[in-house]
Amino acid sequence: MQGASHRYKVGIIGATGYTGCELARLLACHPNVDLDVLTSESFAGQMLSDVYPSAPALPLVPSADASFGELDIAYLCLPHAAAAETALRALEAGSRVIDLSADFRLRSVELYEKTYQTRHPAPEWLDRAVYGLTEYAREALPEARLVANPGCYPTTVLLALLPLVKLGVRVSGRVVVDAKSGVSGAGRKPTQLTHSVEVADNLTPYKLGRAHRHLPEMEQELNRFGTTAPELCFVPHLLAIPRGMLSTIYVPLCDSPDESALRAAFEKEYSEEPFVHLLPQGQVATVAHAHLTNRAAISLNVCGNMLIIVSVIDNLLKGASGQALQNMNVMLGLDETTALPG
Ligand SMILES: NC(=O)c1ccc[n+]([C@@H]2O[C@H](COP(=O)([O-])OP(=O)(O)OC[C@H]3O[C@@H](n4cnc5c(N)ncnc54)[C@H](OP(=O)(O)O)[C@@H]3O)[C@@H](O)[C@H]2O)c1
Repeated sequence: MQGASHRYKVGIIGATGYTGCELARLLACHPNVDLDVLTSESFAGQMLSDVYPSAPALPLVPSADASFGELDIAYLCLPHAAAAETALRALEAGSRVIDLSADFRLRSVELYEKTYQTRHPAPEWLDRAVYGLTEYAREALPEARLVANPGCYPTTVLLALLPLVKLGVRVSGRVVVDAKSGVSGAGRKPTQLTHSVEVADNLTPYKLGRAHRHLPEMEQELNRFGTTAPELCFVPHLLAIPRGMLSTIYVPLCDSPDESALRAAFEKEYSEEPFVHLLPQGQVATVAHAHLTNRAAISLNVCGNMLIIVSVIDNLLKGASGQALQNMNVMLGLDETTALPG
């Protein structure tokens, strides 16, 4: 491990997307990072600030020009499948990789190919990747060559449910997750669903029940931490805000809930965590509790036998680029909060 003043060479592959640009803003203020390479195919030859006026003025090069062998860390901010192909190149050249796509989150190649309807370009790396929900991955991160950064919806759901799964709490049916995402969660390329005119003044449920691609990832990770992991009914919505994500999670408990014991379990899990804020009894988490921070804000309410958890993040920070940077800090033995808001 290097000293606290050591500088690391870092690259962002796919820097012109929403997560890539967010990372560039964060890393430009990191005292241990030299942002060595930012790639783009569409805007190569221009500066990142030509694409996003408030972003750092750094040059964009095509990814074919990236010298991965010279990078300590390569962040991949690419669509799935394209990310795995680039990961192979970076890993073979000796760089450590933090992949923000879904390519290395699932352990099973069959499940990946069924979920994403594409062949996996690097299945041999699936069981070597560390699933980077930082609060639950700290032991594995310092040795990791490849980190699979979690999805944004899974981050809200796992931080809310893992304390219960670890405690062995029994549920009496499916846990319902009613989730809302800001439009940047869908990336920069507009579709009819995400076009501003379609989104404005609307709230759109999509891929209801068991249809969303993040569901296998959530259930895989819940099952990794306990034998009482519930099945989920997941109802995502597109909300007319640029950024932010809120999941309201309804947990039907078998036994009459002891609210103070449940709260104590969450406090035990998160009281030392710099980026997970358990709200005091009586308060409810809102999108504003996490806006522009790397925080997850969690509130607990009990209604009869139903535990209602509200879990909120900023999808571009704790849901993507912020958590990726948090993972890098742990990988490199730096203060975990360095260059992170919140
Ligand atoms: N947005 C979120 O809140 C969020 C949260 C968690 C995880 N993620 C995941 O993070 C990854 C990046 O998301 P994003 O929202 O930043 O996406 P995005 O805004 O759509 O940007 C992706 C970037 O990748 C580049 N690109 C696109 N297709 C490519 C290809 N076939 N080969 C190489 N480069 C390509 C594009 O840049 P150029 O055309 O300039 O090369 C594009 O700007 C995705 O896998 C996404 O699922 C996103």
